Amino acid sequence: MRAVAVIPGTPRSARLLDLPLPRARRGEVLLRVLRVGVDGTDSEIDAGHIGQAPPGEGMLILGHESFAQVERVPDGVRGFRPGDTVVATVRRPCPQRCVNCVGGENDMCRTGGFRERGIKGLHGFLQEFTTELPQYLVKVPRVFREVGVLLEPLSIVEKGIRQAEAVQRRLLWRPRRAAVLGAGAIGLLGTLLLRLRGLATTTFALDAAESPRAAAVRRTGARYVDARERDVRAVAAGDGPFDLILEATGASPVAFAAIEALAPNGVLCLMGVSAGDRRLEIPADRLNLHLVLNNQVVFGTVNANLRYFVQGIRDFAAAERRWPGLLRSLITKVLPPEAFREALNRDPADIKTVVDFAA
Ligand code: BGC
Ligand code: ZN
Repeated sequence: MRAVAVIPGTPRSARLLDLPLPRARRGEVLLRVLRVGVDGTDSEIDAGHIGQAPPGEGMLILGHESFAQVERVPDGVRGFRPGDTVVATVRRPCPQRCVNCVGGENDMCRTGGFRERGIKGLHGFLQEFTTELPQYLVKVPRVFREVGVLLEPLSIVEKGIRQAEAVQRRLLWRPRRAAVLGAGAIGLLGTLLLRLRGLATTTFALDAAESPRAAAVRRTGARYVDARERDVRAVAAGDGPFDLILEATGASPVAFAAIEALAPNGVLCLMGVSAGDRRLEIPADRLNLHLVLNNQVVFGTVNANLRYFVQGIRDFAAAERRWPGLLRSLITKVLPPEAFREALNRDPADIKTVVDFAA
């Protein structure tokens, strides 16, 4: 079977391999992988910056944004049947069995010993067949077969927004104005979720107002602002500050600048993974004072557990009803596994590139 693997730590080592079919271990479901989304994390692994092979192995099969069909279900496993379409979560509990990992909140692992499929210590989904335990699978209705591959990135934003809501239970919170920084897949899915919640949303990115990303933003009823013309602070100063800001660029200067665009009691949710080692001069006194005098919160969030995937399926349905075809339009490139190199070399014009094993 075809699989795309890297040698972690070696730049641009991704190769298409012919590997034997994986064997399901006790209790595991055998899956035929249909589609796999590619994101910045995959490119970072291919660049050799991050990524870890399974113990004792030299290579790592890439891919963590899955969409697959159940091929075989072991005896005694309920809830899944051959032919069901599913998405797998990414993170697996740490061997130290920390309290969060034991409680199914392995996205909040305390020890750092967690593993992640396609990223850290476990093979990913960029292979024609794979196996997985049923507790890490969510069934996705077949009507979502084209967009199901967006469920993993959506789960990241589901978690971010729900964590922000959980944090804000510290007060009587009636958010009205939200900002999203970045219009990649995460930024756009965030825009969509905030609009489903009825927030007046402004999304900032470095694309022209006529770009497809800006058009997708506007279709949800959100406002698009070219950040090269006006950044989040400028808009906050002119039109009013934001109750909730989702940071999805991973650019640390953008993240720090956003603090001053927060409204009183506001919350800034950081979701961008910044891989660099950038130094920055910041108005530290002013930022500290702003946070204190306005009761504000800045928090980070990564990964997502099964609960957020389930919530994501509900929001798929809500988004499809409200803006038919919008989710699909975010998948701008579908490539066969042979074109993995094109998928990993990110094209700025692209929103989501998907590798399709049936293509
Ligand atoms: C994935 C997350 C993962 C994170 C850090 C992201 O691209 O979507 O599931 O936790 O990378 O490895
Ligand atoms: Zn843990």
